[in-house]
Amino acid sequence: MKQRLLFLGPPGAGKGTQAQRLAFNNHLLHLSTGDMLRAEVLAGTELGQQAEAVMARGELVSDALVLAIVRHRLEDHSQGWLLDGFPRNLGQATALDSLLLQLNQSIELVILMELPDVVLSQRMLSRGRADDTEAVIRHRLEVYHQQTAPLINHYQQLGLLMSVDAAGTVDEVSANIRLSLGT
Ligand code: AP5
Repeated sequence: MKQRLLFLGPPGAGKGTQAQRLAFNNHLLHLSTGDMLRAEVLAGTELGQQAEAVMARGELVSDALVLAIVRHRLEDHSQGWLLDGFPRNLGQATALDSLLLQLNQSIELVILMELPDVVLSQRMLSRGRADDTEAVIRHRLEVYHQQTAPLINHYQQLGLLMSVDAAGTVDEVSANIRLSLGT
């Protein structure tokens, strides 16, 4: 089983759901930048206060803020990990590469979860998180297509990308992922 994985895909594709399962079953550290930022907002920290309005609009929090929290967690952890929701643009991908170089680690596999926008919107509207309103979902999808989707090509060129069909039940998608991982 690969030990250093990255989950890529649009909002609502099920990255968090599947990353949590895979990390739990394989004793990997699950690092979700969305969850970490929401925890900062809830705790009312300075970082959380800076991130809150940006997240509510469905835009990306500054690379510097996100990098600081990821760096802190990865530096303290020498075993396997699974990144979910990070990197989110080419700048973050480059910064992650530099950080991993310093830590003498590398990404082993990028799992791309694919699903049409209309299904993504339905899933998020049913969930009803603070940023799951129709207008904010539309904007998050735009941000994904403009800023995050270029990472697909980036990781494809590095020979790290594996696409997984994210349609179907949670169990079916887990099975698709396990099959692709050969576990
Ligand atoms: P983040 O928390 O990362 O949200 P997201 O990318 O918008 O992803 P979601 O959590 O909406 O979707 P997911 O793919 O994880 O799906 P999930 O498993 O939850 O980011 C939120 C915000 O934080 C960003 O907008 C940004 O402001 C900021 N941020 C985060 N990271 C950042 C970064 N690196 N840089 C800058 N800013 C950053 O599933 C969705 C729903 O569908 C759930 O209700 C789930 O139960 C359901 N579901 C899952 N799988 C299935 C299935 N197979 N069938 C039916 N329902 C399903």
